[in-house]
Amino acid sequence: MRLEGKVALVTGGARGIGAAISSAFAREGAKVVVGDLLTGEGEATVEAIERQGGEAIFLPLDVTDEGSWERAVSATVARFGGLDVLVNNAGIGMRATLEEVTLEQWRRTMDVNAKGPYLGMKLSVPVMAARGGGSIINMSSIAAMVGGEASAAYRASKGALWALTKAMAVRCASQGIRVNSIHPGDVVTPLSQPFLDQPGRMEERAAMVPLGRLGQPKDIADLALYLASDESSYVTGSEIVIDGGRIAY
Ligand SMILES: NC(=O)c1ccc[n+]([C@@H]2O[C@H](COP(=O)([O-])OP(=O)(O)OC[C@H]3O[C@@H](n4cnc5c(N)ncnc54)[C@H](O)[C@@H]3O)[C@@H](O)[C@H]2O)c1
Repeated sequence: MRLEGKVALVTGGARGIGAAISSAFAREGAKVVVGDLLTGEGEATVEAIERQGGEAIFLPLDVTDEGSWERAVSATVARFGGLDVLVNNAGIGMRATLEEVTLEQWRRTMDVNAKGPYLGMKLSVPVMAARGGGSIINMSSIAAMVGGEASAAYRASKGALWALTKAMAVRCASQGIRVNSIHPGDVVTPLSQPFLDQPGRMEERAAMVPLGRLGQPKDIADLALYLASDESSYVTGSEIVIDGGRIAY
């Protein structure tokens, strides 16, 4: 039980990578709050965790809304007595070039992927500090680290989150709070599925990966588990790439 006694809030926990993280955390003894816009999927994730003997609740959460964060953090504390681990995982994709992306799409991407984690950290840090520390995990992407023709807004939003991770790691170290970012390559989830389902695309993307396959949500959940646990107690301000070697070229 690597997370025994810990309370974790996972944003975007209803499906994809967030659901895998929620279920891995619960399996290792954490009490898990699944926060998401998607109530049906979120409740299904909680039911699956409970069927495996874990403890979890679903809370409606829009990461772009400060009031929504206030309600989610106070409901977490009311239910489980505090907060030890925050996973800022909720995110949206935006496959458009700089010329194509509209101002509204740019704002929405930055709102969900960068403002969301900012609000989450702002409201969670005091609660985590009151418990003597904790771990914050920010879901960035290799898209923040390398260029590409498309996804200008997405890359910028994930780059902002990467830099914010560094800022918060230094700011929060004296409070016992560690802050790290995870940078996945392609992972098969509902977000990437429409793109990967195009004919030949899955094979083409897998061929770009030295390990020869795309990522699965469980791969990312295993890394999040390490960062959430005390096994990573000397790791902060780090960006961890998990992409099967894709950007090692
Ligand atoms: N799938 C990939 O290839 C990949 C690669 C690198 C990084 N990532 C990142 O991993 C994270 C999870 O992605 P995924 O692939 O599991 O996607 P997904 O679409 O399957 O899951 C994302 C979840 O976030 C939720 N969400 C979106 N906007 C929200 C909001 N405003 N408030 C609360 N919840 C919201 C969605 O409802 C959904 O449940 C994202 O931040 C994504 O950018 C994914």
